[in-house]
Amino acid sequence: MDKYIEAFENYVASFDLEVSQLKRKKEHTYRVIKLCMEIAKSLQMNDHDVFLMKLIGLYHDIGRFDQFKQFSKFNDSETYDHASKGVIILNTLQILDDLEEKDLILKAIENHNQIKLEENLSPREKQFCEIIRDADKLDILNLVIEGKIKMNPYDEKYSEKAVQTILNGECIDLKEYPRKVDQSLVKIGLMNDIVFPFSKQYILKNNMIDELIEIYIKNNPKEKDTLEKIKKKVKERMNDTNVR
Ligand SMILES: [Fe+2]
Repeated sequence: MDKYIEAFENYVASFDLEVSQLKRKKEHTYRVIKLCMEIAKSLQMNDHDVFLMKLIGLYHDIGRFDQFKQFSKFNDSETYDHASKGVIILNTLQILDDLEEKDLILKAIENHNQIKLEENLSPREKQFCEIIRDADKLDILNLVIEGKIKMNPYDEKYSEKAVQTILNGECIDLKEYPRKVDQSLVKIGLMNDIVFPFSKQYILKNNMIDELIEIYIKNNPKEKDTLEKIKKKVKERMNDTNVR
């Protein structure tokens, strides 16, 4: 593992890590590795697969550093898809070239930020994709709850369609919602896409749904009733091990 961590450290050292956004991305990476490992272990993956999962965590956001350097923002729709960029970087650096399952790693990285997984993945590919997606979401949700990712205040109603999407257990696709107030529901929508029992228990154990909704209510008191309804529904789904 050491040589892969060294390759990551060398790559990111070519950027200005005094920039707080980049420093935070690096810290995010290491927390995501830890979460990946915990999920992998909860699934009783063997040592080799846990190792692959660590690599996916380590490199999943490698495209973020160039993105921020070039555009000073992390917005994929206004810049480029940072997951595809990551794959290009990894291929260029040839970091993974000696690994038999390089393609599996790249597949998981490529899919980690998509609203839906690509079709025709093998069950094995799908599992690796889902683990990095859960781990990434858990860390993002933690950052929102800790106030390190800021949520904007609003004084307007969410559209009926956006609320219904969340209540139906789906995610918010930013492209479908031009209004910022609807786009703000994307974070709570992430809860609907959580897959593994470990992740669900992590969210419930840490009271993350209540804490997240509390932030939403503080930022948009007008929508308190709607948000309470969303909270109830998201909790129901999180407690129901049969629902995906
Ligand atoms: Fe990412």
